[in-house]
Amino acid sequence: MTDSDVELEARLVEQETFEPPESFIDQANISDPDIYDEFENNWPECWERAAEFLDWEEDYSEVLDASDEPYYEWFSDGTLNASYNCIDRHIETGRKNQTAIKWEGEHGSTRSYTYQELYREVNEFAAGLRSLGVEADDVVTLYMPMIPELPIAMLACARIGAPHSVVFAGFSAKALATRMNAAGSAHLITADGYYRRGEPLDHFGKAQDGLADVEHTVEATVVVDRLETNSFGHDLDDNQHDWDTIINTHQGARVDPVSRNAEDMLFLMYTSGTTGKPKGVKHTTGGYLAYTAWTSHAVLDLEPGDTYWCSADIGWITGHSYIVYGPLAVGTTTVMYEGAPDYPERDRLWELVEKYAVDVFYTAPTAVRAFMKWGKSHPGSHDLSSLRLLGTVGEPINPRAWKWYYTNIGNESCPIVDTWWQTETGGMMISTLPGIGEMKPGSAGPPLPGVDASVIDTDGEQISPGQAGYLTVEKPWPGMLRTLYQNDERFIDEYWREYSDPDAGDWTYFPEDGAKLDEDGYITILGRVDDVINVSGHRLGTMEIESAIVSTQGVAEAAVVGGNHEIKGEAVYAYVITEDGYNGDAELRESIIEGVEDAIGPIARPEQVRFTEELPKTRSGKIMRRLLEEIANGEEIGDTTTLRNPEIVDEIEAKVSSD
Ligand code: WT7
Repeated sequence: MTDSDVELEARLVEQETFEPPESFIDQANISDPDIYDEFENNWPECWERAAEFLDWEEDYSEVLDASDEPYYEWFSDGTLNASYNCIDRHIETGRKNQTAIKWEGEHGSTRSYTYQELYREVNEFAAGLRSLGVEADDVVTLYMPMIPELPIAMLACARIGAPHSVVFAGFSAKALATRMNAAGSAHLITADGYYRRGEPLDHFGKAQDGLADVEHTVEATVVVDRLETNSFGHDLDDNQHDWDTIINTHQGARVDPVSRNAEDMLFLMYTSGTTGKPKGVKHTTGGYLAYTAWTSHAVLDLEPGDTYWCSADIGWITGHSYIVYGPLAVGTTTVMYEGAPDYPERDRLWELVEKYAVDVFYTAPTAVRAFMKWGKSHPGSHDLSSLRLLGTVGEPINPRAWKWYYTNIGNESCPIVDTWWQTETGGMMISTLPGIGEMKPGSAGPPLPGVDASVIDTDGEQISPGQAGYLTVEKPWPGMLRTLYQNDERFIDEYWREYSDPDAGDWTYFPEDGAKLDEDGYITILGRVDDVINVSGHRLGTMEIESAIVSTQGVAEAAVVGGNHEIKGEAVYAYVITEDGYNGDAELRESIIEGVEDAIGPIARPEQVRFTEELPKTRSGKIMRRLLEEIANGEEIGDTTTLRNPEIVDEIEAKVSSD
């Protein structure tokens, strides 16, 4: 028995279902189970429920336009502005002094913005963007750490109708350049640096390296002075501006929110896929904002007056939808934290929950597993009684971690929503509703009202309960991606080709996840079925990592798979064949790791690099990753009869065990 088992009482280890507490149900935004039928019987008009969370300038006349499937349009002739919906209207309804954003820096410095203050700075920065030549429909790249200027820049872009493309600050210079090139983005907002575990990081240096690889002219760069020290001694060029100067020269400026069509692009978000090239997921103004507002209300149970904290980074979709757009659209107070969960101590997050009296907390299973490993004394030393709801996202949560979270963070009095969704879905798709559904640890729950998800077999037939199959979504939803930026063909290939029957007018969305269904219609997600691995809730393409490895001098070929990892869920395992004349030694291993960090970022860093003479391949030359996964996980090796070189499997295994 491990320590964490001891921490869980036997009673909980056995328990398979949990009811939401009465105290939660009594105050829940949604507590009437009829909502499922109401949505189903009134589809697609049911989605007006989501659109009603927004203020529309021109009302839409049609909820769904499905005349050109699968290019669905939602609320398509309506007009609105996302920045207006996240800021101005809350001021107009008398909540100008309510806190919109509470920010905590790693060193304990804090900043807080009321809706009025947010309004002021967003307007000033929007005026600044215009003065730098940004026009509606220009893609602005934001490469920024977790500082308030990031959501301010996003909302300023939204205000003038310029789609943003946020690149996670932990990504490398090359990853930044790839995304700027793909989007043809001529404007960059970044920062001099940020703190991570007490150390200032030179972020602007990385941004500069990225800019050097941008193939078109970059008109302007804005740099936030986060470190306030010019620690790394960078000078700004003529077309590079300091954030404060931009703000100061536009003091008190007002920028009318630009009227956007519901289907106009709000932002692009690049995500990994099966090929080496990231996919530019396009989200729109009306459908996306309505969907994130609705799910913030229905699933996160948020209301104005709540203090809500999602511990993700805004550089990923979770932060876009559930730190910025959803919570601000419903007018809540959203908390942002710059640093690491274990700095300076392992109770940092609980200290903040106590300090801000957080009502709703949303995090990733990888974090829960780390908390569990660190032990219950850390949350135990803080008053967490303000919490009323907990959530998880990004990967499956194992029942033991779920129960630990339920007991040690939620004090057995907070429901947990395990929310399945993706960059492409814009918002949550599968989850219990916290005031209604019975919770089953490990299972995300039923599809949300109005979401038509199924689990099917390879012939497209519904699987029977207990069986594993493929997750599909049979009907469109407002938050869905509209296409892949300038690549309709890949959009069809990646998401629709597999299970649709266009001749029969049947379009089915395939998220590339495996899943199981139970008798109650609860869906348990089993993980990706494509060559994408999920490290700490972050999606990484094996092809992207492989191409970084093979461009290292001395490497002939490489295969990357996901192996099980206690905290991260999955970790990167690389199998590498060296070029003639090179040795698979510590030095080469080091340059491979560096190469991956340069091409993608530290999150993609291989946990293990194994050198081998050959890779297991089928007769047609395809690498059999399944076998490499089995080796990485120390599992029994499955069928090798279709291999051209079955003997290599034993060789790799033998090497692994002798290492
Ligand atoms: C993939 C999407 C959604 C924001 C974070 C990740 C996995 C997501 C769950 C969950 C099991 C989950 C899926 C999905 N995933 N949520 N609750 N249970 N798996 O966004 O990078 O687009 O990755 O994350 O495999 O396809 P993403």
